[in-house]
Amino acid sequence: PEDVGILALEVYFPAQYVEQAELERYDGVEAGKYTRGLGQQQMGFCAAHEDINSLCLTVVQRLVERGRLSWDAIGRLEVGTETVIDKSKAVKTVLMELFRDSGNSDVEGIDTTNACYGGTASLFNAAAWVESSAWDGRYAVVVCGDIAVYATGNARPTGGAGAIAMLVGPNAPLVLERGLRGTHMEHAYDFYKPDLASEYPVVDGPLSIQCYLRALDRCYAVYRRKAESQRQQGERCRRGPFTLDDFKFLIFHTPFCKLVQKSVGRLLLNDFLAAPNPDTSGGLYKGLQPFRGVKLEDTYTSKEVEKAFQAASQEIFNQKTKPSLLLSSRNGNMYTPSMYGCLASLLAQCSAQDLAGSRIGAFSYGSGLAARGRSSPLDKLLSSLADLPARLDARKRVAPQDFAEIMKRREETHHLANHTPHGSHTDLFPGTWYLERVDDKYRRQYARN
Ligand code: ACO
Repeated sequence: PEDVGILALEVYFPAQYVEQAELERYDGVEAGKYTRGLGQQQMGFCAAHEDINSLCLTVVQRLVERGRLSWDAIGRLEVGTETVIDKSKAVKTVLMELFRDSGNSDVEGIDTTNACYGGTASLFNAAAWVESSAWDGRYAVVVCGDIAVYATGNARPTGGAGAIAMLVGPNAPLVLERGLRGTHMEHAYDFYKPDLASEYPVVDGPLSIQCYLRALDRCYAVYRRKAESQRQQGERCRRGPFTLDDFKFLIFHTPFCKLVQKSVGRLLLNDFLAAPNPDTSGGLYKGLQPFRGVKLEDTYTSKEVEKAFQAASQEIFNQKTKPSLLLSSRNGNMYTPSMYGCLASLLAQCSAQDLAGSRIGAFSYGSGLAARGRSSPLDKLLSSLADLPARLDARKRVAPQDFAEIMKRREETHHLANHTPHGSHTDLFPGTWYLERVDDKYRRQYARN
């Protein structure tokens, strides 16, 4: 099969949010810390009767219903998540309820669990299946979903929640470029969830940011090397090294928007250091000569380097990345779906003309990949996402005090058996699945709003 990639994309985010400016006041921090300092406008959060299964049920049902797909047409279903409510029973198995009436139980795939990266791993698996000898001609569906919540303290404003479902198959409007990926994997205790009774992670914020930036450097280096070698083998041989100019758009895993803006600066630093003879007397690299000798690994905490390259890359950020931050700035970090939320935000605000034939560079924390837009089937994909800003506007604003109480209630009831969660229908969009009851054997029952 040719041009394997993303055919359709569906987004779910919670129907309620807190204003970050109000949260600043409530938390007693300086005004501007969450809004200007982290670059966050609002933060979405789940109702008390939502869990990872209900989020994924909603987004998969939306994908199939709005795409007028038949449940029989899906031969693989993968879930990427780090929101674990059962150590054995995959979210994927719960989603099979949606297939029940169709009689289709011949559906491969299972959950992939890993902080933020599980969604990308699932997408790679799904694309590999379509390209493999095991493919039976049907679609694959990839679901990424998470409830990103932190204990009270400085990480709390970087939460969020949501789910994204993607239809994967051949002749896609968004094609995963073959052989063009860079991966960096290493062992670090920057963010992990060792306490299975809690929804909250253990996180070392500053270390996690360093790990993120180091992974970005390494992925870009590997990616660039592969891109340059493909280019040398191809006919359309362009001279000079691969640079950010070769991407029309750049999207990132987005823990908070400010980190993404810094990351664009970081990529420019990579280009600058790799350029054989950068012109520092004018243009993009003007005034950057003092940084010519720096080593990437020495600069993760350097404010001087960060500031200089953030300023130099401002225009690149505005053009290539800013439109992709709509959902992240208004809903927050969704963990595994974060980067795909950026993709959806970009598509919601682009024309087919902007995208056709252009390359989107994508950084999923822990990995890198790139997609290329194809003109013909692009319109349908774009129009399906055009209502994203209106859907964000339709959410309910909740006071930080009430948000804190809902979080407290989730803490107290997380993992209770024989429990009926408290939650109102007005906390959910119509058509949303929710947790109705957990019985005395921990079996969960869901209903649709
Ligand atoms: N006005 C404007 N800006 C302000 C103000 C203010 N009044 N007060 C502070 N700031 C700025 C700071 O200068 C800083 O910006 P800078 O880094 O550009 O200098 C920014 O706001 C944040 O302030 P810090 O004091 O650094 O924030 P703190 O250490 O309290 O927490 C952190 C930030 C570490 C990101 C925390 O929220 C966290 O741990 N989050 C979770 C971890 C995370 O998301 N890691 C990213 C990768 S891993 C993942 O995806 C989960």
